[in-house]
Amino acid sequence: MKLLLTGATGELGTGLLSTLMGDGHEVLATTRRAPPPSPRASAPTWIAWDLVRGPAPTDVLDGADAVLHLAGKKYDALAPPEAFASANVDATTRLLDAIAARRRAPAPHVVLFSTMYVYGEGSPAPLSESARPAPRTPSRARTVGRSGCRPRRRRR
Ligand SMILES: NC(=O)c1ccc[n+]([C@@H]2O[C@H](COP(=O)([O-])OP(=O)(O)OC[C@H]3O[C@@H](n4cnc5c(N)ncnc54)[C@H](OP(=O)(O)O)[C@@H]3O)[C@@H](O)[C@H]2O)c1
Repeated sequence: MKLLLTGATGELGTGLLSTLMGDGHEVLATTRRAPPPSPRASAPTWIAWDLVRGPAPTDVLDGADAVLHLAGKKYDALAPPEAFASANVDATTRLLDAIAARRRAPAPHVVLFSTMYVYGEGSPAPLSESARPAPRTPSRARTVGRSGCRPRRRRR
C-alpha cells in the first residue's frame, strides 16, 4: 500500500515506520526537521510539512491508500493547554481539510491515533470506539480532534 505517515519521527511513529517499511509498504513520512538517516534499502520518502503552519505539500496525498496520523503533542502536565489544541486539533483539522480539498475519489482512509484518556481514567476495560468520551485532562483536545473526523466520515 501507499501510505502517508505523519509524526513519523516520534516515539510511536519511529516504530510504526520501521514496521511499515519492513512489511514492504511505500511510505511518505512527514517531519518538520531534517529527515533522519535511514538504511538505504528501507528508506521512506521524507516530506517536510508543518501541519499547523504550512499548507499541504503539492501531490502529497496523490495515490495514498491511507493516511496514518500520528503527528501531535502527547500529554505534558507542564505545557499550556493551547499547545495541545494547536498540535492536535489544528494539525488534524488541516490534514482533513487538505484531504477534503482534493475532491478526488477514492479518498484515502484516515487512521487517527488518539489516546485511551479521551474516555476518562479508570474506565472498565474493554472499551469500544462508540464509548462516550469523558476526558479529565487536556487530552480533551484529542477528543475535539476525533469529533472533527466524524461528520466528515458521514458525508462520504
Ligand atoms: N507515546 C504514547 O504512549 C502515546 C499514547 C497514546 C497516544 N499518543 C498520541 O500519539 C501521538 C504521537 O505520540 P508520540 O509519543 O509519538 O509523540 P512524540 O514522540 O512527541 O512525536 C510527535 C510527532 O509529531 C510530529 N509533530 C508534532 N507537531 C507537528 C506539526 N505541527 N506538524 C507536523 N508534525 C508534527 C513530530 O514531528 P517532527 O518533530 O519531526 O516535526 C513527531 O514526529 C500524540 O498525539 C500522542 O498524544 C501517544
